[in-house]
Amino acid sequence: MKEILHELEVRRERARMGGGQARIDAQHKRGKLTARERIDVFLDEGSFEEFDMFVEHRSTDFGMEKTKIAGDGVVTGWGTVNGRTVFVFAKDFTVFGGSLSETHAQKIMKVQDMALKNRAPIIGLYDAGGARIQEGVAALGGYAEVFQRNVLASGVIPQISVIMGPCAGGDVYSPAMTDFIFMVRDTSYMFVTGPDVVKTVTNETVTAEELGGASVHTTKSSIADGAYDNDVDALLQVRRLVDFLPQSNTSPVPEIECFQSVEAVDASLDTLVPANANKPYDIKELILKTVDEGDFFEIQESFARNIVCGFGRIEGTSVGFVANQPMVLAGVLDSDASRKAARFVRFCDCFNIPVVTFVDVPGFLPGTAQEYGGLIKHGAKLLFAFAEATVPKVTLITRKAYGGAYDVMASKHLRGDINYAWPTAQIAVMGAKGAVEIIFRKDIDNPEKIAEHTKMYEDRFLSPFVAAERGYIDEVIMPHSTRKRIARALRLLRNKDLENPWKKHDNIPL
Ligand code: HXC
Repeated sequence: MKEILHELEVRRERARMGGGQARIDAQHKRGKLTARERIDVFLDEGSFEEFDMFVEHRSTDFGMEKTKIAGDGVVTGWGTVNGRTVFVFAKDFTVFGGSLSETHAQKIMKVQDMALKNRAPIIGLYDAGGARIQEGVAALGGYAEVFQRNVLASGVIPQISVIMGPCAGGDVYSPAMTDFIFMVRDTSYMFVTGPDVVKTVTNETVTAEELGGASVHTTKSSIADGAYDNDVDALLQVRRLVDFLPQSNTSPVPEIECFQSVEAVDASLDTLVPANANKPYDIKELILKTVDEGDFFEIQESFARNIVCGFGRIEGTSVGFVANQPMVLAGVLDSDASRKAARFVRFCDCFNIPVVTFVDVPGFLPGTAQEYGGLIKHGAKLLFAFAEATVPKVTLITRKAYGGAYDVMASKHLRGDINYAWPTAQIAVMGAKGAVEIIFRKDIDNPEKIAEHTKMYEDRFLSPFVAAERGYIDEVIMPHSTRKRIARALRLLRNKDLENPWKKHDNIPL
């Protein structure tokens, strides 16, 4: 009996060694952790339960029957993050470069199915060389079955991908269909086809980093939602994100203890908006002073910085924040900002996370680059996302809310539940200068008259009161009481019950 028990330990030990000590050392030398080390960092201590540790590939081509490694290049199972169940899979680069075989895919499918059935988030850690080249079509089939599961789970359970090494070919599409992708700087890259194929097909010479490194995907392509300096930092930050998310679309939004009273006022907010309407200020200051304990998890911090998206908590409950950023392009809405915020709002709506929107927007960005790039369609995405969202929506206009951008940014007309404005708000079709130059064109050469018209326009329209007179603004509030007022609004909306008409799915302008 003792020997039988011992046999299990020996087999487990062998499986834990993956592709062997030399490959583990090589992994460490590159500054990367192994798959199991990553899982240990990510999950609560001692909570990991591994599945399919002894699964091996079934390939017999190219002499593969002689090289079988228990686990077959992916470590799968479940554990907890701060006590809440999550499913995980981590590609093991030390085993055939983490490449995906038929059995490797089956292991991932098993945890995907379990995560969906048990309504818990699933997190994939990527470090892999794509399809197992020796297997061919069996690997392709495996990928597609993983993709299918990603799609079925989308909007039902949170799915998160962390890219911690190569992620190429077939490996890129599963992360692309998950809710969030994070990368590790300098050691990870993602592309459909690598530098060699690029050189052959387009004659471009690029490095892997230039083609698909973390800086490319967080600043240019917007594929990644964030990047961190090393494996440990990335994994700890994803734990932080998981804490904000519900287990599924039918689970309650997480609520933790809140140590900061919402009753206290913050007088510094009364001077946040500068006297000069063209001077920028940092909207993140308002976010940090609104959320509990200044704890804000920003999504896509380095992309389309003219809009800020991320998670915080108010009175211990998760909230999604969307805010125009006057510090960047005056907070204008362009195609990138619209797409970024639309996706974020839709995520929040999928998972019943209330959305708080801070508005200071001079309009949509004019120009051929934007129009040729499809600004109409991208802007419509954000409009669509806010309009279809049935979660509690609280909006605060701090300064400018001009033109179509006023409508788009969770206005009352798009079923905003509670719409506040600061006294500094300016809700109008456009800024005074543009308006006066159009409606008083005949006086354009008379600076005195133009100044007179501008003053009149500013006095009449550049305030929150015209909108408030019509009920488009529920209340004009003092900046110092913002946190308290938003907390009260969210409390009021806790039992909000709103459903859209039945449909198979909508047809958001993609
Ligand atoms: C089998 C693979 C492999 C693969 C790597 N290995 N990729 N084995 N299938 N796809 C093995 C290597 O043979 C090597 O084994 C070990 O993993 C480490 O690989 P190295 O090349 O030594 O590592 P490195 O120099 O770091 O390069 C990593 C890499 C490179 C950039 C990922 O290995 C690479 O380019 N691999 C092939 C990528 C690729 O073309 N994949 C197929 C994509 S097509 P040993 O025994 O020496 O340790 C695809 C289609 C699917 O995925 C489409 C579905 C939609």
